[in-house]
Formats: sequence, structure tokens, C-alpha cells
Amino acid sequence: MQNFDFHNPTRVMFGKGQIAALAQLVPAGSRVLMLYGGGSIRNNGVYDEVKAALAGHTLLEFGGIEPNPTYETLMRAIALVRAENIDFLLAVGGGSVIDGTKFVAAGSLLEEDPWTIFEQRAANVQGALPFGAVLTLPATGSEMNSAAVVTRKATQEKRAFASRHVFPRFAVLDPTKTFTLPARQVGNGVVDAFVHVMEQYMTHPVDAKVQDRFAEGLLLTLIEEGPRTLAAPEDYDARANLMWTATLALNGLIGAGVPQDWSTHMIGHELTALYGLDHAQTLAVVLPSMLRVRREAKRAKLLQYAARVWDLREGDEDARIEAAIAKTEAFFESVGVPTKLSGYGLSREHVEPVLAALEAHQLTKLGEDRGVTLEVSRKVLELSV
Ligand code: NZQ
Ligand code: ZN
Repeated sequence: MQNFDFHNPTRVMFGKGQIAALAQLVPAGSRVLMLYGGGSIRNNGVYDEVKAALAGHTLLEFGGIEPNPTYETLMRAIALVRAENIDFLLAVGGGSVIDGTKFVAAGSLLEEDPWTIFEQRAANVQGALPFGAVLTLPATGSEMNSAAVVTRKATQEKRAFASRHVFPRFAVLDPTKTFTLPARQVGNGVVDAFVHVMEQYMTHPVDAKVQDRFAEGLLLTLIEEGPRTLAAPEDYDARANLMWTATLALNGLIGAGVPQDWSTHMIGHELTALYGLDHAQTLAVVLPSMLRVRREAKRAKLLQYAARVWDLREGDEDARIEAAIAKTEAFFESVGVPTKLSGYGLSREHVEPVLAALEAHQLTKLGEDRGVTLEVSRKVLELSV
């Protein structure tokens, strides 16, 4: 195991009715801006509960943050923060709203164009407005991590940054507020969380037993609770397990001290930027091909995954590995997320622009061993058609 510095300052308030805790969680006397998406929070009681909890605070609103939040929209939020002297932000929604709020929190304090955060790998982020999150969609882990992904519509770019200044102060997780999610978003969330675990687990062994077993436990929970949630959308326990799993999948815990491989995500971001696929759809397409193409580098971990997650313990090693990858694919399909580019109307001619974008963003040596060159990415994408 490598040395690590694990620090996660986000306080989590989990369970039914926890939105009421906002009254105490948001500092008294602050000027609060609540940020939200396209309006789902008005249909499930979240909006009303937040307003009621913050009745004693000065509260302004900024709605309309879109899935894959855009720089263009977020710059309007930054203008509002400045004009109204806002000093606390509250993100209410899914990963897009929370990521957007992180960008607003950091960008509001910058004199230069906040897009430079991506160009400078967040080196210019020296602080951020404090903020909290009320999560309505278990998927990204953004509610308990320090990463954000923002899209620039004008140039079709989707870029990520991370900074210790943008950990949420708190996250409110009420599983009953996820009952209204459309099946497509439930499936997306399951796949996203699954791939987050895989990108921190499926590398090479470093004898990190706790990280491995935690990761396998999260994967097994997703395999059980994803289909259970889709079958019974108002099953509180299934929702609760799913929500806590997605948070733990990307809050730094299972990734501490182990090699990581974010190549599937990086290629996936380009697919969303160019062709508008949902984030999780891109992952369902790329991950299985990535595992097939990188089978040698990942052999030991693939065998461990086959045995411990899919109970494939006997017979030829290569056959076990292929069976584990096929089961992964079938699982994604079973929660409603197609695993081939053709499932989204894309074909071979859509591969080249993705490679050009990876090159333009200097994403040409990805993976735990920097072994995912453009040539490897090409193979992966061609196998995904
Ligand atoms: O906008 P509204 O009306 O709220 O509707 C949303 C949106 O249309 C809807 N929704 C959310 N909660 C709901 C609900 N509908 C009914 N009931 C509810 N309770 O779901 C739709 C999708 O929401 P979005 O926030 O876009 O989804 P998700 O949470 O999957 O976030 C995706 C974004 O997160 C980024 C992705 O790239 C993408 O931009 N990621 C962020 C990460 C991070 N910060 O660590 C890591 C991830 O890998 C990912 O890249
Ligand atoms: Zn993701």
C-alpha cells in the first residue's frame, strides 16, 4: 500500500426527514443561495422542505442548472453571488447541481475567468465560498468529495477539477427523496457508482486488503440493490443502501493508498461532450472494452474480481476473466443501460473525434500505469461499437 493522506471533512446527515436539519447546519445570519436543476425538486417535496427549514435565513434561489452543468449557466450564478453578496451556497439536486455549485463556490472568488481553473488544474483555487448539499440522486459521490465536472457549451468541452477547498461542509441524504427518480436515472446511478469502485479497484494488487474488500462489498451491494430498487421504487431499505453505497464509492476511502485508473471516465467525458450521452451511459460502453483490451495488465485483479464478485472460481483463467466481463455487461444492461455505442445511434465514424479530443486535452497516457495511449483508446472504442 502506498502512503496516503486521507481527509474528508464532509458531515453526512442520513435518513428520512433530515432536510429539517438544515436549520442548524446552515450558519445563522448567512446570505444563502440555493442552487437547483430543472425542477424535479418541486415534485417530491424537497423544495418545500428546504424552504421551510431555512425560513429563518436570508434565502435566494438560482434554478436551471442542467445535467452536465454548463459554464455558461454557472457564470450567471456567479454574477448573482457577487451582486447579492452571497456568503453560503446550498446545492439541492444530483451530481450536476453539486458540481455546478463547487464551480460557483471557487469561481466566485477568482478575479480571472473561472474557466482557468481547468487550464491550471485548480492551482489557482486558493479558497471557495462554503456550501452544503442536499442530494436527490445517488450516483456521483459529489456530495462527499472534492471533484467537479463542468461543460463549456460553446466549445463542446467537458472538464474536471478537484480541490480540497470544494468539499461540501455537509451533505443531507434522505433516501425517500429518491423515490421519484425515473428508472433511467436509477440505472445511471448504479452504473456510475459501480464504475467509480472499479476505477479504484481494477488495477494491480498492492495487498490493500481493506480497500479491496470494501470495494467488493460495494460492488456486491450494487448488484443486489440496483435491481431491487428498480423492481420496487418505494422500498426504503433498497434506496438507503443504494444511496450510502454511491456516496462511499467516491469519497476517497476505497481509493486511499491504492493505484487508480480513471481512463474509462476520461474517455466517457469526451463521449458526453461530443455526442450528449448521459455520463453513466458512456461508462457502460467503455468499461467492458477497457477491461478486455487491458486484460494482461489487470489479470490478477480480474481473477480476484471474477472469484469474489461473480463467484467464478474454477476452470480456465481466460474463460473466467471473459465470463466476469460478460456478467458485468449483462448487469449494466439489466439496469437499463446499453453497453454498445450502437445502442445510442453511434458507429465507427464517431470514434475519431473522441481520439482528437483526448489528444487536445492531453489525455494520451491514462490508466494506473499510463498505459492507455491513444492507440489503446482507439482499440477500446472500436471494440465498443
Ligand atoms: O434537473 P432536475 O429537474 O433536478 O432533474 C434531474 C436531471 O434531469 C433528475 N433528478 C435528480 N434527482 C431527481 C431527479 N428526478 C426525479 N427525482 C429526483 N429525486 O435527474 C437528472 C440527472 O441529474 P444529474 O445531476 O445530471 O445526474 P448525476 O447525479 O448522474 O450527475 C451527473 C454529472 O456528474 C458528473 C457527471 O460528469 C455529470 O456531469 N460527475 C461528477 C463526479 C464528481 N463530482 O465526483 C464524478 C462522476 O464520475 C461524474 O463525472
Ligand atoms: Zn462517474
